[in-house]
Amino acid sequence: MSTSVLPESTHAGRSVLPAPVSTKKLKLNSAANTALNWGVGFWWVAAVVGQWAFAAYMMAVYNGSTLTGNLQDWNKVFIIRGGWIAGDTVGNLSFGVHTLLGAILTFGGALQLVRQIRARAMSFHRWAGRVFMVTALVTSVTGIHMKWIRGWEFILSDPGYKIDAYGHTLDGVLIIIFAILAWRTARGHEIAAHRRWALRAYIAANGQWFLRIGVFSWILLWGGRPVGINTETFHGPFIVFWDFASVLLPLAVLEIYMRVKESRGPGRKFAMSSGLVASGLLVLLGTAGIGVALWAPIAKTVHDPRKQIGDTLALTIKSAGIDQAATQYYNLKVTEPTKYNFEERQLDKLGYKLLKVKKFKEAIRIFQLNVEAYPNSSNAYDSLAEAYMNNGDKPEAILNCQKSLQIDPKNGHSIKMLNQLKAP
Ligand code: HEM
Repeated sequence: MSTSVLPESTHAGRSVLPAPVSTKKLKLNSAANTALNWGVGFWWVAAVVGQWAFAAYMMAVYNGSTLTGNLQDWNKVFIIRGGWIAGDTVGNLSFGVHTLLGAILTFGGALQLVRQIRARAMSFHRWAGRVFMVTALVTSVTGIHMKWIRGWEFILSDPGYKIDAYGHTLDGVLIIIFAILAWRTARGHEIAAHRRWALRAYIAANGQWFLRIGVFSWILLWGGRPVGINTETFHGPFIVFWDFASVLLPLAVLEIYMRVKESRGPGRKFAMSSGLVASGLLVLLGTAGIGVALWAPIAKTVHDPRKQIGDTLALTIKSAGIDQAATQYYNLKVTEPTKYNFEERQLDKLGYKLLKVKKFKEAIRIFQLNVEAYPNSSNAYDSLAEAYMNNGDKPEAILNCQKSLQIDPKNGHSIKMLNQLKAP
């Protein structure tokens, strides 16, 4: 039964009844507002966990070596292609500043959204806002510089990297525009507009975080064998889609959220709240995935005091050739087993570097060494098969794909390669 709670009023002798609002409806509206607040609160907590994990990763992996001048240590991070390059002062500076300010930006951004901080410590909010703007602008400009000037060779030679570059550049340009507008509206005391632009700047500034978290949520949702991603190369249709969607989708959700918050419909607020909780859960899933699969192993490698066998062999290949490098590998395994890192990833990474520059024979030899050392690794055979395929040796490529599949029949990359090799 509905009960009117607003008083009746009279006007010019006529009874004027405001539209009756039922207590049930009021309660529903209030529950919807509470649900929306809880939804956004949950999303924020999940985002802080994920963003601080990303900031901690940057600090542990890059910032320490940047601040102590050990820039070569950046190259221990097996996922990057640029890193430290001898003689490239501007490029090295760009990378060091990018990762240093990126960490500050990622760490501080979420704090700007806390209402209590704004209410109780306005001067902190103002200073943190300035730091946010400067770090956002410099991180974007150095990122764009690395993509288009420093990374020129990669972009020309790798179509996947070029698509990445467009997506990341879109993010960088949006960050710059939103940060400037948030700054201008704050200076003009246009608080409502400032709030909107600052939120957009925050979301865009976390585009690179959304990118990483989203990819790992997707991989985990597919139980480790994702559709649309080659987990060896991190290329594929999903990556192309997500390069752009990781920037545009969260911005679209923000626009919807801002409208729903101002709207009256409780249904929309409940739906928005559920969506925020679901995406918060995905953020937590993605953070756990990338933390365990990538960030923690990278941090471990960077802080590993042992020498990288891959780097040592790369230098020997350059100066004395692949046979000498293979001999050095066998010798060091016997004479210095604890001084060098002989993990599977070392030779795998070196082999792929050689494949990229079309040194197929050298890559095959390196992958053969890895297969010898790790005979139970499906991935080691898969890499060797890929090198044979690139070298035009179909029978050996097929044989190694089959070996890879004997160890792991679900190895998607080997299945795809084998189908390709057997196609008429
Ligand atoms: C604004 C937030 C950003 C943050 C927090 C950030 C963070 C990072 C981090 C941590 C790395 C090292 C790779 C890794 O360990 O994952 C990196 C590398 C890089 N970033 Fe960013 N980034 C941001 C924005 C951008 C933008 C907007 C662009 C391009 C337009 C960009 C381009 C690059 C490039 C080219 C590299 C080097 C990759 C390589 O050497 O292989 N970044 N960034």
